[in-house]
Amino acid sequence: MKKIIKNGTIVTAADTFRADVCIENGVVIQIGANLPAVGAEVIDAKGCYLFPGGVDPHTHLDMPFGGTVTKDDFETGTIAAAFGGTTTIIDFCLTTKGKTLKSSVDTWHAKSKDKAVIDYGFHLQIVEMNNEKLAELPKMIEEEGITSLKVFMAYKNQFQADDETLFKTLIAARDLGALVMVHAENGDVIDYLVKKSLEDGNTDPIYHALTRPPEVEAEATGRAATLTGLAKSQLYVVHVSCAEAARKIAEARSKGVDIWGETCPQYLVLDQSYLEKPNFEGAKYVWSPPLREKWNQAELWNGLKTGQLQTLGSDQCSFDFVGQKDLGKGDFSKIPNGGPIIEDRVSILFSEGVKKGRISINQFVDITSTKAAKLFGLYPKKGTIAIGADADIIIFDPTVERVISAEAHHMAVDYNAFEGMKVTGEPVSVLSRGEFVIREKQFVGKPGAGQFLKRAKYRSDKKSEQESTLTF
Ligand code: URP
Ligand code: ZN
Ligand code: ZN
Ligand code: ZN
Repeated sequence: MKKIIKNGTIVTAADTFRADVCIENGVVIQIGANLPAVGAEVIDAKGCYLFPGGVDPHTHLDMPFGGTVTKDDFETGTIAAAFGGTTTIIDFCLTTKGKTLKSSVDTWHAKSKDKAVIDYGFHLQIVEMNNEKLAELPKMIEEEGITSLKVFMAYKNQFQADDETLFKTLIAARDLGALVMVHAENGDVIDYLVKKSLEDGNTDPIYHALTRPPEVEAEATGRAATLTGLAKSQLYVVHVSCAEAARKIAEARSKGVDIWGETCPQYLVLDQSYLEKPNFEGAKYVWSPPLREKWNQAELWNGLKTGQLQTLGSDQCSFDFVGQKDLGKGDFSKIPNGGPIIEDRVSILFSEGVKKGRISINQFVDITSTKAAKLFGLYPKKGTIAIGADADIIIFDPTVERVISAEAHHMAVDYNAFEGMKVTGEPVSVLSRGEFVIREKQFVGKPGAGQFLKRAKYRSDKKSEQESTLTF
């Protein structure tokens, strides 16, 4: 049956206007004033905005990490995402040295199948770039539709890849039409600083931040940007946490390097002092890169406002405080890195960004949805409200005031990193391909309803322009 959403205000990355939206077979078929409602289910969105469903380009669901496995899997994680207004996620598929890429992708399909309640895609981690991997890559990109590759420059002896691997990945991505993503921190320097700190008896959570100073993030960001320029490739820097790293991206952009920057809600509203909370509570705020001194927040907001940073990922990577984060009691280096954010990403940007006048409402849509859809080969199916696009829509009440809490959230973890934070605005209902996943704040979706998204190549227009001039 057709659905018509009436009385809402549509907001896209470009425009804000009053119109009805008619949906059939999962896609938007009509947008206009006073659309006839005969034979359609009418949904009243009076007083609400209609935003395109959020696209969260950075999640870790059901991921083994730090001696444990993230608490939220593809079921609890995507339900929480939907409550928060996100209708598409792109999760990181981890790979292993010596094993085929295909075997890792199969593992990630097995984790997500019959579980996800919203649509999802994968990024593919690259830990080594040898002839076997090179031979397999075209298939991953063209047949599996996995058009982004992730390289970790940190987490020594675990995920970290060397510069040769990064450089070869950049070249392969350029030639095959994939976007390279980096976790930019200098893992070797961090490894030294961590060992030194522990030797000196400095074991509390705050030393996680003190052994990963902004310089190690900025250095790796600058290095990755330089290598990208050299390879004439393309780069997306995940979870930019500080002013120094954001400046490296801006500087490379000013030189014409094809580089993009993502930040996360935690870096916009929390700061390094949270790691000093007593009774080991600081462990709840252990991310890599770490939370920074508060003054960095203004620089990150400014980056989003001026377009030097373009997207907001949740970096959802949740661990219980009791039983998981406490693996690092007495040794901060054993605290599993990451936190539960998937549910609050959109609301925090609306409340702290739009309501507080830091960004426009159209920028908010761009940052939470449109830009990621474009960069990761999903636009215009995802990331906008337009005729022919998937009917992934948030009906968002901009006036509700509420307090974020673990008690009220839908993630599987025992704490919320934003506990007690007041936000204005909330998704009331959320549709994925025309079906309600959240209706009047109740979950009505179905595990397994989410579809795997084969994504288009990175800016498919780009390769042919350059082919003739490149020699490596
Ligand atoms: O601390 C973090 N960011 N955990 C998730 C893994 C990663 O580095 O993105
Ligand atoms: Zn309403
Ligand atoms: Zn990372
Ligand atoms: Zn991450």
